[in-house]
Amino acid sequence: MSELVPGVLPFRSAVVPAAGLGTRFLPTTKAVPKELLPVIDTPGIELVAAEAAEAGAQQLLIVSSPGKDAVAAYFAESSELEKELAARGKEELVAKVRRAHELIAVRTVTQDEPRGLGHAVGCARDAVGPDEQAFAVLLPDDLVLPTGVLAKMAQVRQRHGGSVLCAFDVAREEVSAYGVFEVEDTGDEDVKRVRGMVEKPPPDRAPSTLAAAGRYLLDRAVFDAIDRIEPGAGGELQLTDAIALLIDEGHPVHVVVHRGGRHDLGNPAGYVRAYVDFALADPDLGPDLRAWLTDRLKV
Ligand code: G1P
Repeated sequence: MSELVPGVLPFRSAVVPAAGLGTRFLPTTKAVPKELLPVIDTPGIELVAAEAAEAGAQQLLIVSSPGKDAVAAYFAESSELEKELAARGKEELVAKVRRAHELIAVRTVTQDEPRGLGHAVGCARDAVGPDEQAFAVLLPDDLVLPTGVLAKMAQVRQRHGGSVLCAFDVAREEVSAYGVFEVEDTGDEDVKRVRGMVEKPPPDRAPSTLAAAGRYLLDRAVFDAIDRIEPGAGGELQLTDAIALLIDEGHPVHVVVHRGGRHDLGNPAGYVRAYVDFALADPDLGPDLRAWLTDRLKV
């Protein structure tokens, strides 16, 4: 795959939709936004912010809803806490506390009503600079591992233009939880051209088992497409339908097929797996946890 043209930033803005009610994590989400639930000690949204920054993003546009101010507050500087920790000589903790606000500039835009992912992305329109031809979207429920897929997606946009998404091959019985792609091959096994996309199809009607995995590099033409779609699956304005409309109108859309790992932080079952996986990989926690789990599983 060709390298990125030096000096050309693939995108500056990364949109992170974070306006949902987090109903799968009630009652905790009465008071704590889902995006701030920790994976060990770090909220999922910080992991996603770090991924965006690593890929070159300069601003994180968090699409939030009224009552979720804690998400933006998490990225603000906590100078009192930093001073207190520094006074106690806790430099490692100071570094942890500083990490989120040093990563990337954060701006919040508000989605007043829960009208779907397409609508949420549309809310970021005025915050994406008028000169930015493309921007990234990262769904904070999805951890795509190892990181780096956005860089590959940027290379594909440089080569083919248009919009580029990330796909995972999932089991056919799972497709109805995802946006699913109809694809054709390119010369590269890990890059497919998308001929169509459908949101949450029943397994027997899904065009493939390649599912959208929460990473998007979208041409700004998508904003105009979002304005022209009707409510779709679940009665919501779906990002998938805006992308499908762009494809119908001849806009190039490709996927990078990610062969690595993935976690879904959006439901308790996926969250527990992510937590255990991260803990097992942690040099301090891993060995004891592995021993305990091994023992615990001997029933
Ligand atoms: C959203 C998108 C879907 C995508 C999925 C990835 O669905 O609408 O196309 O495959 O994220 O996690 P949701 O999980 O919000 O229902």
